[in-house]
Amino acid sequence: MSSTLTLLLITIISAITTASATTIGVTYIPSSTQPPPEQVAATLKSLKITAVRLPLPSPSLIQAFFYTNISLFLSIPNNLLHNISTNRSAASRWLYTYVVPFYPRALITAISVGNNVNASSGDDVIGAVRNVHQSLTDLGIRKITVSTTFSFVDIMMTSFPPSSAEFEEPVNTQLLTPLLQFLTETNSSFFVNLFPYFVYKLRAEIPIGFALFENQPYSFRDDVITGVRYRNLFDMMVDAVIAALTVSGHADMPVVVTETGWPSGGLVNEGEGEGDAHPVYAGMYLNGLVSHLRSGGGTPLRKEGVAQAYVYEVFDTNTSFVNQAAGRLGTGLHWGFMHPNMSKKFNIDFSGGICVIDSMLVRMIFSLVIGMLMF
Ligand SMILES: *[C@@H]1O[C@H](CO)[C@@H](O)[C@H](O)[C@H]1NC(C)=O
Ligand SMILES: *[C@@H]1O[C@H](CO)[C@@H](O)[C@H](O)[C@H]1NC(C)=O
Ligand SMILES: *[C@@H]1O[C@H](CO)[C@@H](O)[C@H](O)[C@H]1NC(C)=O
Ligand SMILES: *[C@@H]1O[C@H](CO)[C@@H](O)[C@H](O)[C@H]1NC(C)=O
Ligand SMILES: *[C@@H]1O[C@H](CO)[C@@H](O)[C@H](O)[C@H]1NC(C)=O
Ligand SMILES: *[C@@H]1O[C@H](CO)[C@@H](O)[C@H](O)[C@H]1NC(C)=O
Ligand SMILES: *[C@@H]1O[C@H](CO)[C@@H](O)[C@H](O)[C@H]1NC(C)=O
Repeated sequence: MSSTLTLLLITIISAITTASATTIGVTYIPSSTQPPPEQVAATLKSLKITAVRLPLPSPSLIQAFFYTNISLFLSIPNNLLHNISTNRSAASRWLYTYVVPFYPRALITAISVGNNVNASSGDDVIGAVRNVHQSLTDLGIRKITVSTTFSFVDIMMTSFPPSSAEFEEPVNTQLLTPLLQFLTETNSSFFVNLFPYFVYKLRAEIPIGFALFENQPYSFRDDVITGVRYRNLFDMMVDAVIAALTVSGHADMPVVVTETGWPSGGLVNEGEGEGDAHPVYAGMYLNGLVSHLRSGGGTPLRKEGVAQAYVYEVFDTNTSFVNQAAGRLGTGLHWGFMHPNMSKKFNIDFSGGICVIDSMLVRMIFSLVIGMLMF
């Protein structure tokens, strides 16, 4: 009896571990219209968010996460890449400002050297990634992953069907090939900003429900080459990246989705209607994403799925500022799941899937105990 119980518990516990394989984080860009970072950090913790991406880090911002046990993903702005690439002291100076004084009280786990980089800055990116990694090693810090971040639409040549996806030229030869080699040598991950919204906008044949994780029996697309069935656009895009990595000889490299989300409003171009950027859709996308990742099913090409995914973003804030900070997210689009006054635009249950399993676990243990009492 007790060995059956143990076996059952082990099965249940391993099911929980599998179900939480992907870490779900958020991107946080502070501004003066929002509450102070300490208050935001406490709120994120209360929402059970375990990872935060800071594309515009500052010493006080990093300090706000001391002892929160929230892991931090920092970015180095693109305008510093040239100096950091050509001058190792510039790399170490950046680390002495943003990492050394805070680590490990602030749980910095990753540094992206640049964001939305492309072939035109290829040499600077490679040089800067190497210098930051080498400087960290010199400091004796080995647990921080160093990589750079690409935008899906900038690097994918063909992405459908996912199995025939490849990286685009010239970024493939000039930047990805040497970078991927380096990432493999240093056990690092591939960082990609991946927005089904933008692909949906480009391809009229994609139904909106497929982009929004709407679980309908008729809502699927088959990869005509492999016969694999896709139930949402996010998985198709992730598998396109994984297929392209495989073609490049890096089939097992972990993938981190550094930005993903759905706009809740705004205009792409002045005067152009933007009905698909809507708070209802934004809420559907993010809740669909979280429960999909929490379910632990992975993607058809990779059963463990992406290693981490960062929701873009915490606050609906001044969009002109956001665009300058985070790149090409469509002029005037609104993001974020909270207003600057901390009221929620829509609810996302970040602990969602886990809670369901937890209560299931409680029920199962309860019925086991009842069963034992009855014997
Ligand atoms: C810190 O976070 C990690 C991963 O999210 C978790 O496994 C660990 O239990 C947490 N530790 C504490 C002290 O809360
Ligand atoms: C790059 O380095 C040069 C020389 O040290 C300095 O004058 C310049 O301000 C630096 N650029 C940036 C963006 O920090
Ligand atoms: C290299 O960077 C350091 C630190 O930022 C700076 O003091 C130095 O002037 C830079 N050297 C060159 C040649 O730009
Ligand atoms: C490449 O990145 C640079 C710097 O962010 C940007 O100015 C340029 O427009 C980009 N080029 C392309 C082709 O997207
Ligand atoms: C990378 O990971 C492998 C397997 O976990 C390990 O053997 C190797 O030492 C690691 N390499 C580096 C540079 O950390
Ligand atoms: C956003 O920023 C722009 C430029 O800095 C400014 O003109 C505008 O008033 C700001 N909007 C809001 C709602 O704060
Ligand atoms: C918070 O801000 C939003 C957007 O500006 C507004 O609609 C809402 O009423 C505000 N909530 C509170 C409690 O002030």
